Amino acid sequence: MVSTNTVSKEEGLDHTLSLLKEGYDFIPNRVRKFDSEIVETRIFGKKAICISGKEATEIFYDNNRFKRKGVAPGRIQKSLFGEGGVQGLDGEEHRHRKAMFMSLMSSERLKVLDEITEKQWQIAIDKWKSMDAVVLFEEAEEIMCRIACSWAGVPLWAKDLELRTMDLSAMIDAFGAIGPRHWEGRRARTRTERWISYMIRQVRTGKIGADEDTALYQIAWHEDLNGNLLDIKTAAVELINILRPIVAIGRFITFGAVALHENPEKRNKVFTDEVGYRQMFVQEVRRYYPFGPFLGALVREEFTWKGYEFKKGTLVLLDIYGTNHSPTLWEYPDVFWPERFSEWDGSPFNFIPQGGGEYDIGHRCAGEGITVQIMNTSLKYLSGKIDYDVPLQDLNYSKLRIPSIPKSRFIMKNVRHA
Ligand code: HEM
Repeated sequence: MVSTNTVSKEEGLDHTLSLLKEGYDFIPNRVRKFDSEIVETRIFGKKAICISGKEATEIFYDNNRFKRKGVAPGRIQKSLFGEGGVQGLDGEEHRHRKAMFMSLMSSERLKVLDEITEKQWQIAIDKWKSMDAVVLFEEAEEIMCRIACSWAGVPLWAKDLELRTMDLSAMIDAFGAIGPRHWEGRRARTRTERWISYMIRQVRTGKIGADEDTALYQIAWHEDLNGNLLDIKTAAVELINILRPIVAIGRFITFGAVALHENPEKRNKVFTDEVGYRQMFVQEVRRYYPFGPFLGALVREEFTWKGYEFKKGTLVLLDIYGTNHSPTLWEYPDVFWPERFSEWDGSPFNFIPQGGGEYDIGHRCAGEGITVQIMNTSLKYLSGKIDYDVPLQDLNYSKLRIPSIPKSRFIMKNVRHA
C-alpha cells in the first residue's frame, strides 16, 4: 500500500538516463521506492514532479491548476503531435476545438465506423487465407489505416496504402524513441502533413467533395473562436489527430491477440460475448498492456497538495502506466483478469489508458469510444470468426521500449474462416 501524504525528492543532477533504462516503470519505481504518490525528480535538465494514482489524476485534470500550452517537447511535436493541435490548447480555445472533435463521435458516426470496420476485416481475411504467414501487427495497422481514411472521408489510393500506413505508424513509434526511430517519425510527419494539407486545400477549393459529416469536411471548414478557418497546416495536424490514433489501435489489437493466445480458456467467452465479456476483455487489454507511460502538464498557478508546493510553471508528470497497475486501485494488478471490470466503479480517474477526467472540458482522449468499439469488433474476429495457428515465436514485449509491442508482432499461419 502506498502512503499518500509523503513527498520525496530524488537526489542527483538528472535522471533522463534512468528514464531510458526503466521505461514504463520509471514513475512506478519511484512511487514504490519512496512510498509516495508525489516524487520530485529531474529529467531533460528540468525539475519534474511525478504524481500517481486516483487522487493525482483528479488534480491533474483540474484546469485551474494545470495548463498544457508549451508542455510537449519539440521532439514530440515534430513527430507524434504536430504543432498547433488540440493537445497544446487551454481554456476556451481548447473547449471550442475539442467540441469539434467530440461532434465527430456521434452515435450515427460510430455506426458508420462499425460498418466500415466489419467490411475491412472481411476484406483482410480473404487476403490472409492465401498468405503463408500473417504478421498481425502490420496487417492490423493497414486495416486501421483503411478504416481511418474511409471513415474520415480522406481519399486513399491502393498504391499509397503501404506508404500512408507506414508513415502514420512511424509517427506513433517515434514518441518514446531517440535516434533512427525518432528521425523516421519526423520524416513521416512531414510527408503526412504535406499529403493532408493537399486534401484540405482540395476540399476548400471544391476540387474534391467531402460529405458534411466526415472529419475531412468538418476540420477543413472548422472556424476558430474569431470565425477564421484554421490555417492549412493546423487543419492538417488536426485531421492527422484522427487518422494517426486510429492506426495506433493496431497495437492494442495485437496485444489483444496475445492475450487471447495466452488465455485460451477465455477465447470462447470473448467470442460469444456472454454477459458483456468481450467488453471486459477489451478494457483489461487497455489496462494491462503498456502504451502511454505518462502525461505532462505545467502548473498554472501555485498551489499546495498533500503538503507539497506546486510552483507555477513546474512540469508535472501523471503516471498512466503505474495508475493502471496500482496495487492500491487494482487487485492483483499484474494479472490479466478481465472479470475485474464487472465490478469496476466506472471512475474517470482510476483507469486512464487514454487519459482521465471529462472529455469536453479536459484533454481526455477524444477517440476512447472509437478505440473500444474497434477493438471489440476486431477481437470478435480474432476470437472466433477466424481460426489460425500460432507458430512458436517471441511474444515478449519490452517495458523499456516506448511504445511497446510484442517482439514477433504476432505471427499467424493457416488463417481460415471458423
Ligand atoms: C490506441 C488507442 C489510443 C490511445 C492509447 C490514446 C491515448 C491518448 C492519450 C493518453 C491522450 C492524452 C490525454 C491527455 O492529454 O490528458 C489522448 C488524447 C487524444 N486522443 Fe487518443 N488515444 C487513442 C486513440 C485515439 C483515437 C482513435 C482518436 C480519434 C479518432 C484519438 C484522438 C485523440 C485526441 C484528438 C486527443 C487530444 C485530446 C485533447 O487534447 O483534448 N485517440 N489519447
